[in-house]
Amino acid sequence: MATMESLIGLVNRIQRACTVLGDHGGEGGSLWEALPSVAVVGGQSSGKSSVLESIVGRDFLPRGSGIVTRRPLVLQLHKTEGGQAEYGEFLHAPRKKFADFAAIRKEIQDETDRLTGKTKHISNIPIHLSVYSPHEGQPDSIVEDIENMVRSYVEKPNCIILAISPANQDIATSDAIKIAREVDPSGERTFGVLTKLDLMDQGTNALDVLEGRSYRLQHPWVGIVNRSQADINKNVDMIAARRKEQEYFATSPDYGHLAHKMGSEYLAKLLSKHLESVIRARIPSIIALINKTIAELEAELDRLGRPIGSDAGAQLYTILEMCRAFDRVFKEHLDGGRPGG
Ligand code: GDP
Ligand code: NA
Ligand code: MG
Repeated sequence: MATMESLIGLVNRIQRACTVLGDHGGEGGSLWEALPSVAVVGGQSSGKSSVLESIVGRDFLPRGSGIVTRRPLVLQLHKTEGGQAEYGEFLHAPRKKFADFAAIRKEIQDETDRLTGKTKHISNIPIHLSVYSPHEGQPDSIVEDIENMVRSYVEKPNCIILAISPANQDIATSDAIKIAREVDPSGERTFGVLTKLDLMDQGTNALDVLEGRSYRLQHPWVGIVNRSQADINKNVDMIAARRKEQEYFATSPDYGHLAHKMGSEYLAKLLSKHLESVIRARIPSIIALINKTIAELEAELDRLGRPIGSDAGAQLYTILEMCRAFDRVFKEHLDGGRPGG
């Protein structure tokens, strides 16, 4: 039986190979899209970074194919007087003006790689981008391009959405639920996460949300108590924070009956289990795609002639060998995953 860790490791290696593959293998893009990714969405201060932090560092999240999951993007819009052209500016690169979306997108990618390294998964350290614009919400504006980029990412059927909403705000106004409703109306790939349960008004509770009456999703809602700002200031570490969270649920008169299905640990497990089943279900189509890529690469090598030195052919040959290795490992996983196998 393949372990979750080895499956995720495999997915990460395949994703890296996809990056190397680039244009080669023609259908590299669909191989990419066969793999699951995770996006964290939610309004400002809803608890995205805190939730990410509690699941980052655990090695089960596949590296997302998109930039939005790898580092949070904090976007601020500044209105400027008319007559000025729109531009973006990053906190990490002050005084440098980025005049168009393509340049901004590239800088987000580069800055993510600088921090995480190409092989690392994701980071909870945000990238701060300010967009200075004389117009608001007009077509062709950088802000709209960025919103579209996020949407196009979470629209993909392979994207698992972690929708973060704070319990001390009306769920009807949740940004996360708004986007989830739009791109995943059946709720099959959305995990509803309700943060800040400890900050609700005395005498109120979030049972209507947590028990699925306010907004129905296919997966159960998970309530979370992250570190408060005061905890962060006092350097309360993650282990202590998790212990406090467990205690909160275990002793809560409102949520005691749900305690075993609440908290960051449970969310991590739920997500991990879901990812595992998604990956398992995709193994046959991944194998098929890899075989197709192998066939295409072989045809191209036949045309070019077998490599002698470090030319383009040699690179293709390396990729081909990688694909063959993946194919073997995947088949082993498939065999190992069969009941009684
Ligand atoms: P983000 O803007 O969505 O990334 O939100 P953050 O994770 O940065 O959280 C914003 C603020 O809310 C921080 O000061 C956190 O400490 C605090 N916070 C987040 N989740 C909780 C929670 O469950 N309980 C409490 N008390 N504070 C929280
Ligand atoms: Na929100
Ligand atoms: Mg944040």
